[in-house]
Amino acid sequence: MDYSFSLELIYLVASVTYILGLKMLGHPETARKGNLIAAGGMTLAILGTLIFYKGAVPTFVYLLIGLAILLGTVSGWIIARKVKMTKMPELVSLFNGMGGASAALIGLIEFAHYTGHRLSILTILGGIIIGSVSFSGSMIAWGKLNGTLAKPLRLPKYNLINNLVILGIFAFAAYMVWSGTDSQLFLYLLFFAALTYGVIFVLPIGGADMPVVISLLNSFTGLAAALSGFLYGNMVLLTGGILVGSAGTILTFAMCKAMNRSLVNVLFGGFGDKSSESLEGSSHTIDGEIKNTTVSDVAILMNYSNRVIFVPGYGLAVAQAQHAIHELEELLESKGVEVKYAIHPVAGRMPGHMNVLLAETNVDYGKLAEMEDVNPEFQNTDVVFVVGANDVVNPAAHNDPSSPIYGMPILEVEHAKKVIVNKRSMKPGYAGIENELFYNPKTSMLFGDAKKVIQELISEIKSM
Ligand code: TAP
Repeated sequence: MDYSFSLELIYLVASVTYILGLKMLGHPETARKGNLIAAGGMTLAILGTLIFYKGAVPTFVYLLIGLAILLGTVSGWIIARKVKMTKMPELVSLFNGMGGASAALIGLIEFAHYTGHRLSILTILGGIIIGSVSFSGSMIAWGKLNGTLAKPLRLPKYNLINNLVILGIFAFAAYMVWSGTDSQLFLYLLFFAALTYGVIFVLPIGGADMPVVISLLNSFTGLAAALSGFLYGNMVLLTGGILVGSAGTILTFAMCKAMNRSLVNVLFGGFGDKSSESLEGSSHTIDGEIKNTTVSDVAILMNYSNRVIFVPGYGLAVAQAQHAIHELEELLESKGVEVKYAIHPVAGRMPGHMNVLLAETNVDYGKLAEMEDVNPEFQNTDVVFVVGANDVVNPAAHNDPSSPIYGMPILEVEHAKKVIVNKRSMKPGYAGIENELFYNPKTSMLFGDAKKVIQELISEIKSM
């Protein structure tokens, strides 16, 4: 039997499952299945490698591999089951960091085996640099998201220093390839320099920009894995790495586009901390007063409306109010009110956050309307209920050129007949800026935790 042919065939099948899985992740209805298909392909590739690998491998190594798979599977399973949806970006950064570390470790081990092969050494050093930056950068991102490293740490002229460090790393790696050195000292110097760069690259970036940074680091990990695949001539590692690299890059730019910010602004712009400054310095002052409303007034308003649109945001996820809002939707529909959800592409803290949250409670996908489709509908809507959303409905994006979110496409809820905003206080959202929607004469504020408020609304409407 030709083992290498069987293995190549398995790798081909696995690669196809990755592509299929990725495609299916593009729609909420097929996403779960797509994930399983790709995971099945990955299992197949691992089993195929273990069974059909032709080189001489001591039994001891098989035991180590088995132990590593067991440890990884059990801990991954437990962590993924326990994690809260709002902590998902943290988990992604942790898992991504592990991928980067693996790619870097492969490079560290293989360096001594390829002395004299310039292309292989180039590939190895590339994997070490990118994998290490991805690992240490992801760890810092993880620390920022869980609050340990909440404040951005900026050295004077940090952008210049960071650029010099990365240029120095590239120059040193180029020297190592050109000289054909087999020095382990040089290898570890490069490794630690790359780890340091990952730290100083991510530390100055504001915690709120971490989703974009994680997605970028994710694409780095993909690239590092692809370089390992190239080194070993392993097609499935190469394909998987390329897919992760390109998907991460596309996602990074899609997020930047939806926020109307360039990647350079995200990485070097110091977003969030300057916003209050820019608001103070802005010629744009907010006129009007804040109007409070009560649960019973909102219940009456919704009950006698023809059409209500819910606008969920990050606060809905924080409050875990997805089940409650679905119940409110069904209750209103049973009373003849037409209900929809308007989904902004960057509502929440990760791509598709609101879709995933609402899918958890089996909201009909047909009721989720995308921003471009729903914006023209607001003018024919009786009530817009903004739940834990802030920046994605801030008209400053249209009206205030000095605002940090100026130019970001928003849900134009102010065109509806009445806007109810639910949040706990007047605190700003992610961008750290005030929202003039709250001062609009059409707007009434319904303060309180989203879950509690929605549950009260449900009992009030039921009693009507
Ligand atoms: P935000 O602008 O962050 O506003 C969320 C609001 O929810 C806050 O003002 C907060 O006000 C409220 N809130 C928090 N906990 C709550 C609770 N338990 N009950 C009720 N309200 C609660 O959220 P958004 O409108 O969804 O916008 C997302 C922001 O994240 C955008 O600026 C976007 O650019 C950014 N971002 C998103 C992504 C992705 S991919 N989604 C990636 C990077 C950045 P209180 O504290 O007063 O309650």
